[in-house]
Amino acid sequence: MISYKEQIAQILSAQIEGLEKEEIVNMIETPADSKMGDYAFPCFKLAKILRKAPPMIAKNIAEAVSDNDIFDKVENVNAYVNMFISKEAFAREVVTEAVAKGDDYGRSDIGQGRKVIVEYSSPNIAKPFHIGHIRSTVIGNSIYKIYDFLGYDTMRINHLGDYGTQFGKMICAYRRWGNKEDVINAPIQTLLSYYTKFHEEAEKDPSLEDEARAIFTKLEHGEPEEVELWQWFREESLKEFNRVYDMLGITFDSYNGESFYSDKMPRFVKELEDKGILEEDDGAQIVRLDDYNLPPALITKSDGSTLYITRDIAAAVYRKETYDFYKNIYVVASQQNLHFQQWIQIIEMLGYEWARDCVHVPFGLVSMEDGTMSTRQGRVIFLEDVLNRAVEQTKQIIIDKNVNTENIDETAKEVGIGAVVFNELSNYRIKDYVFSWDKVLNFEGETGPYVQYTHARACSIMRKAGDDIVTKAASGFDPKYITGDAAHELIKLIYTLPDVILEAGEKYEPSIVTRHIVDIAQAFNKFYHDEHILVDNEDEKIAKVALVMAAKAAIKNGLGLLGMKAPEKM
Ligand code: ARG
Repeated sequence: MISYKEQIAQILSAQIEGLEKEEIVNMIETPADSKMGDYAFPCFKLAKILRKAPPMIAKNIAEAVSDNDIFDKVENVNAYVNMFISKEAFAREVVTEAVAKGDDYGRSDIGQGRKVIVEYSSPNIAKPFHIGHIRSTVIGNSIYKIYDFLGYDTMRINHLGDYGTQFGKMICAYRRWGNKEDVINAPIQTLLSYYTKFHEEAEKDPSLEDEARAIFTKLEHGEPEEVELWQWFREESLKEFNRVYDMLGITFDSYNGESFYSDKMPRFVKELEDKGILEEDDGAQIVRLDDYNLPPALITKSDGSTLYITRDIAAAVYRKETYDFYKNIYVVASQQNLHFQQWIQIIEMLGYEWARDCVHVPFGLVSMEDGTMSTRQGRVIFLEDVLNRAVEQTKQIIIDKNVNTENIDETAKEVGIGAVVFNELSNYRIKDYVFSWDKVLNFEGETGPYVQYTHARACSIMRKAGDDIVTKAASGFDPKYITGDAAHELIKLIYTLPDVILEAGEKYEPSIVTRHIVDIAQAFNKFYHDEHILVDNEDEKIAKVALVMAAKAAIKNGLGLLGMKAPEKM
């Protein structure tokens, strides 16, 4: 597709001395109010160079370029050159491209197959998969999809929290008070109850702590009985996590979590030692980070056991050596900002020049309307329950609304789960937000169901138009029928989708895509209300159906990047 900014800069540069074309590209604005044109060029900067008043310069430029075919009209308003691009040429260009590319509209090869690792979700084994985990899971999945669409060779890693002293406690508790059936029936709930029980009992009998520590040491040394139990806990927990991943349509390329690195750590402890970075502190080994205004990082405890941070150092080096990544992205809560600053700094101190290719993508907290969230006191909201409730409620809405759909259960699933996902990706990720059922399942507001419904409406128009018209629209149309205000605004939004996807990737910010497809859906619905689409005049009908097809492709692809389905009927 042609870049209008580039073309306009080319045209303007012939009139402007003293500014490079690249500079002009960056100066071109897109006015929020379309009465001020599709593009505007401010002339303030030129006053110094040309020694003339900016409005005068704007007037001269406007007159000089207004004859160009690319414009319908060029005006100067004060110091601005306001340019109205040819609506017909624009409509032909954009709609033809979006219809031709369809599911690939917005795709790019800018990534040139470079390796990008996206690490996300990463829950802790034997701990509840609660509503808080939705954030890393859904934001990470969308970032992965965006990078994939941009032509990177992506890899999804679930860095499971499957290691650490808590497993000593859990095994200890299982042996003392546990039983097999309970674990199989409700793995996470049961394992969690062991953990809680352990802490209660250890308060009365502190020797339990020693027992648990000894068990963990055995696990670290690969004692078969301990390893077997740990592995079994891990598998049972994963089964439960996978139920949620299935609902969300999420899979991973690797589940190498913390335990995977347990035997890879001595190398790094030695490397840190050899480079003189490691310091002894009361029997423990630490790295001082005073020079970087960071508190010291604890690398090994006084009993020799390694820590979360040591495993992250090992994991990053392993990934570099195994996958040679261009970028290694971590979608992890902002509470861990310090942790990431510390270990990435340590990687840099070790002399690995790729340290800054490790990117921490933080996000804020989610809480429930009624204030429930606390993991202590067992007031946990399981993510699975939230998704199930969303599906049930959506099914009820579909029944109440008497929606025409062949498969109610399938649609309820796509819309209900999609609603939760969309809601999650609606705000800037760094913001804290409150989960509200009213907001999530509203079919009218700026919500997932609204956007999906708009997509289904576009599909319904295409069905009504019939195969013959749809086929004709795909092979050509007269753009003069889609130059009305509503059509033009919609086409502009379809046109900018590829840039929006690029920006969302650069900023690791899926909400930019979310907001844009809400805008497209709103513009589409305005077009739908302002104009008759399936008119008698066949040429007019074909052109309008082509625009409907272009909008449908844009919305569908946007939803796909968020990890959502786009049902054709609802
Ligand atoms: N398992 C950790 C948690 O639930 C998140 C892991 C984040 N990833 C990492 N490489 N440190 O808090």
